[in-house]
Amino acid sequence: MPEKIFAIKGDIIFTETNKQFSTYLQSFLVIKDGIVEGIYKILPEKFNGISVSDKGHALILPGFIDLHTHAAQFNQLGMGMDYKLIDWLSSYTFKEEERFSSEKYAEKIYRAFAEELINCGTTSAVIFSTIHKNSCDILCRILQEKKIPAYVGKVNMDVNCPSFLCENTAESLQETEEFINKWKDNLLIKPIITPRFAPTSSREQLKGLGDLAVKYNLPVQSHLAENKAEIAWVNELFPECGAYYKVYEQYNLYGQTKTLMAHCIHLTDAEIKHLAKIDVMPVHCPDSNMNLTSGIMPARKMLNEGINIGLGSDIGAGHELFMPNVMVRAIQSSKIYNMQHNEYKPLSLAEVFYMATKGCGKFFDNRGSLENGYQADFLVIDLPEYKQNASLEERLAYFVYSGEKKYIKECYANGKKIS
Ligand code: GUN
Ligand code: FE
Repeated sequence: MPEKIFAIKGDIIFTETNKQFSTYLQSFLVIKDGIVEGIYKILPEKFNGISVSDKGHALILPGFIDLHTHAAQFNQLGMGMDYKLIDWLSSYTFKEEERFSSEKYAEKIYRAFAEELINCGTTSAVIFSTIHKNSCDILCRILQEKKIPAYVGKVNMDVNCPSFLCENTAESLQETEEFINKWKDNLLIKPIITPRFAPTSSREQLKGLGDLAVKYNLPVQSHLAENKAEIAWVNELFPECGAYYKVYEQYNLYGQTKTLMAHCIHLTDAEIKHLAKIDVMPVHCPDSNMNLTSGIMPARKMLNEGINIGLGSDIGAGHELFMPNVMVRAIQSSKIYNMQHNEYKPLSLAEVFYMATKGCGKFFDNRGSLENGYQADFLVIDLPEYKQNASLEERLAYFVYSGEKKYIKECYANGKKIS
């Protein structure tokens, strides 16, 4: 196949580290076979004749990555926000997820979800679906059609949940293995082992899922230490483990393969230090944590330990998919945390931008940056003409804080235009 090479010209900005932005005014981003080839102020002669699209003073930045989101909760945004976690699950969420026993409903909602991801400039995501294997396949098929790189988890739950959403343990493991075999060799959409959270899985189910993770070397995602009542419940259900995370650890679901744990709000200092040493990435979901009054993740404390933190929308506990808004909420909640704990300074814009791009991208290996060798997942952002005198960093800040998706003019994943 002939190589496909092209360049986009504009004002390029991204975060190589979480300390500061890398900025390239009026430069060429060269993309070869879907991968970033380089950034040039003047296009070298060897690229003579390639297609160049000049975007003027538009910003060019990495696409956003959402490391924790529930596609099946897309139709319940804003509902049940007066509840805390356990009541929110039983009053709204479980009932909504049951609707995905209908493939027709799944097709409709998952298509709307995927379209909104692209509208929001989210170019890859790690996603929970529901227990329903056929609907889960539908979600994967839609993401593939839309060219959105993703990990998708078939959710597993076999205890402490309503009968309409409660799996038979053996069937659950069998269907999970079928789902794995169907998607594991796909280049774009990958399976991820997804026990909902410790309270809704039996020991047998957790053991079976950990065995599958190890057998197929698959990543794992779940929820950890989100809410104090949830933690007390886990301690009651698994007294032999002695700590919430140890339930996952005991069953090969905590760092034995690469692992995402949403929330991690109420970990002890010793648990945070332990997390720093293993292949478990905490995912900060500040919208969700505010909406369900769960608490504030001690993000600065984790960064001080050298932990790479991911960022997630966690819809429907979060109420939107637009990652710039989640980034702003992460900064704001770190400011509230700082008001209560003076020694932990607030997060900076560069730190949360890094979280939503290169930091999250580590889970995908080479996504989330515009450095050479990264997958060319990027956005073209057109701001109003009157913003053009501001510096590149100031314009980026304006875009992030504006909360306006309308400024996203183009969206690329793997070097292909997806909107
Ligand atoms: N814990 C278990 N299930 C869920 C869920 O669907 N959302 C959130 N935020 N926490 C959970
Ligand atoms: Fe969640």
